[in-house]
Amino acid sequence: DGEVNLRPRKLSEYIGQNKVKETIEIFIRAALQRGEPLDHVLLFGPPGLGKTTLANIISNEMGVNIRTTSGPAIERPGDLASILTGLQHGDVLFIDEVHRLSRTVEEVLYPAMEDFALDIVIGKGPGARSIRIELPRFTLIGATTRAGLMTSPLRDRFGVISRLDYYRVEDLLTIAARAASILQVGIEPDGAEEIARRSRGTPRIANRLLKRVRDFAQVRAQGIITREVASTALEFLEVDPLGLDQLDRRLLTAIIKNFGGGPVGLETIAASISEEAGTIEDVCEPFLLQLGMLARTPRGRVATAAAYQHLGIEMPGEKQPTL
Ligand code: ADE
Repeated sequence: DGEVNLRPRKLSEYIGQNKVKETIEIFIRAALQRGEPLDHVLLFGPPGLGKTTLANIISNEMGVNIRTTSGPAIERPGDLASILTGLQHGDVLFIDEVHRLSRTVEEVLYPAMEDFALDIVIGKGPGARSIRIELPRFTLIGATTRAGLMTSPLRDRFGVISRLDYYRVEDLLTIAARAASILQVGIEPDGAEEIARRSRGTPRIANRLLKRVRDFAQVRAQGIITREVASTALEFLEVDPLGLDQLDRRLLTAIIKNFGGGPVGLETIAASISEEAGTIEDVCEPFLLQLGMLARTPRGRVATAAAYQHLGIEMPGEKQPTL
């Protein structure tokens, strides 16, 4: 089913993130009424919440082309120059992981965003001069997991900055049910809810879990996703009732068992469980912080009472109830 596209194409099909959706809708409508390209948009938030989907929806609603790339893929200023000169009036340039652009590339981007111009330096030393090439007016859509990772000159050049938050269970339930209908798999509302509850607020995870649960339903049940089928499949996949996966639990368990519950530095924990610090910081931490199982202090990460309780580990100093 790599062929089946679960991504919504229109804003009206996009579920949840109501504040972001309304902002973007007004902004698209106003630009269309004026017959102007859209101003630059920065989308930030944890992975899997729909930043790429929104960028595609925006270009679709504006009726323009979208060119997609990412911060690390644009290695040299010339790479960016060739992308920019290939755009047509009004096109969207989507740069994922925009915080990972190099400094030299960023500096080419500033005049491009502000004046729709490229400044090219010809020659070296005292004889060097600069020529300016006009660019088509375009819309830059940047995506990043955390706005704080960006330099402020870049951040300041976006007209609209929108933060995506974790989705509510009811929205994820609707997303899972919609995806099931596209995939033509039978699902009961309780089955969709069970998947939604365990998807850590993230549509990408809801869609992925749905596909795995579907396999389960097909082989072990009658092809219909009931709550029972969903919870059995998700237990099997080691996704727990609050949506923590193996990595989340390994992280919390390491903080508790190896570092006395913390505080412990990110790099130290990452090394102790052989994971990338970046993955922990972008993927696990925002979710665990939101659940209140992890706290960030100036001296490092701390597992909270909620983490001990969830993992069934007794907290030091906590008395066992006497029976
Ligand atoms: N699929 C993934 N994200 C979605 C969303 N926000 N709305 C509808 N379908 C989706």
